[in-house]
Amino acid sequence: MESYAEKHDFPIIGPACGYYCYQLARMIGAKSIFELGSGYGYSTAWFAKALQENGGGVVHHTVWDGQLSKMASSYMLRLGYVDLVQFHVAEAVETLGKQSSLFDIIFNDIDKEAYPESLGQIKKKLRSGGLLIIDNMLWSGRVFDEKDVSPATEGVREFTRRITADKDWIVSLALMRDGMIIAYKK
Ligand SMILES: C[S@@+](CC[C@H](N)C(=O)[O-])C[C@H]1O[C@@H](n2cnc3c(N)ncnc32)[C@H](O)[C@@H]1O
Repeated sequence: MESYAEKHDFPIIGPACGYYCYQLARMIGAKSIFELGSGYGYSTAWFAKALQENGGGVVHHTVWDGQLSKMASSYMLRLGYVDLVQFHVAEAVETLGKQSSLFDIIFNDIDKEAYPESLGQIKKKLRSGGLLIIDNMLWSGRVFDEKDVSPATEGVREFTRRITADKDWIVSLALMRDGMIIAYKK
């Protein structure tokens, strides 16, 4: 899966962040995980590995491209994780809103301009004591470039402002690869 990303220049979270997601999911004994923006399933595989070792559960894979979803399902089959994954070909935040249960972990990796608006729905669907993991919080350093006011960069900045101003979250930034916010919902 890593070779595919390299060959096709596909933005996966990579092994260090993947391993960290796996560790966090193991540490809290996660059983239910919702991923927003799952690509062809690289991050999903790390979460599924944790679920398998935690004794079972489900990770929701969401992407709006049917071809990527098919690729993900074929990789999950090869890895022995397919029974732990539920696949959705749809807009991720809307799909999260349709879920009836709360999640132990929500992982967000959708288009960055949509980050700020996703926070409300995420807060509703994460259990108290659950973890929100959100990727690309450094956005290759563009968040520090005052001249960059593109919708994606502004999306990352606004999301950071909103979550750090909200007293219901305990927030830190893991300085790994492109920066991941780890937020604990009180
Ligand atoms: C950064 S990639 C995901 C990489 C994946 N998390 C990994 O590390 O393996 C984001 C993917 O989600 C899709 N995507 C972006 N915004 C989305 C949204 N709002 N709903 C569904 N899919 C979305 C993109 O087209 C892309 O395939």
